[in-house]
Amino acid sequence: MSALQQKIAQTVAVLEQAVREFSPVTFANSLGAEDMVLTDLIAKHQPNIDMFSLDTGRLPQETYELMQQVRDRYSVPLIVYYPDAQHLELFVAQHGVNGFYGSVENRKACCHVRKVEPLRRALIGTKAWITGMRREQAVTRGSLEVSAFDTDNGIQKFNPLLEWTNVEVWEYLKANGVPYNVLHDQFYPSIGCAPCTRAITPGEDIRAGRWWWENPENKECGLHISHTPLKRA
Ligand code: ADX
Ligand code: SF4
Repeated sequence: MSALQQKIAQTVAVLEQAVREFSPVTFANSLGAEDMVLTDLIAKHQPNIDMFSLDTGRLPQETYELMQQVRDRYSVPLIVYYPDAQHLELFVAQHGVNGFYGSVENRKACCHVRKVEPLRRALIGTKAWITGMRREQAVTRGSLEVSAFDTDNGIQKFNPLLEWTNVEVWEYLKANGVPYNVLHDQFYPSIGCAPCTRAITPGEDIRAGRWWWENPENKECGLHISHTPLKRA
């Protein structure tokens, strides 16, 4: 068995365990490369896992194109959650449509309205959620576990791709003809909202294009709070 085949088998086993021990389970799908691996594996092996995306309203057009492609290709429905309109109107009234550039606090407040609050709604009634996070992605992700209780949301959290490398992710996508965001071919390894994501240059860290004006230890959006050190120790 190749290293990739072993990782696939381990990941499928984690998905099975999640369903067996924690149904209903839902998968948070950002439509990034890792999440497309999980989309394909879930559709093939555990289609009873629900799948949702948080549409912040500021995603790149290319992400919306992929969202539509996923809907057309896979039978597992992709449920899309939106920010609460009143909260968003208040944020924009206070800080402006692009107020997130003003300070880390404003940026986190925008992420809260556009992602964290909708995430809380998406997780209501579930016993576990699944993410596509990998350990080597960021300094903030070094201590993650494949399965752990998520105290922020009060349910179990699975990171079944935790030990996958970037090369393995791409090997899987190509070998299985899985659709992916075309921005990945334009030097965007990590894609979030359009105004907060830029292309990287050779040699830069894979998350260097996310909130590029902030320090690496701040670079989480609040979806994964327990692993987000807010200050340098
Ligand atoms: S972020 O914290 O920097 O925004 P990243 O883009 O690396 O996160 O994604 C990490 C994981 O968080 C993804 O694999 C996915 O499970 C979840 N996630 C992030 N953004 C979204 C989104 N817009 N919709 C659904 N899940 C998301
Ligand atoms: Fe707002 Fe940027 Fe966070 Fe998107 S990534 S929710 S635009 S601050």
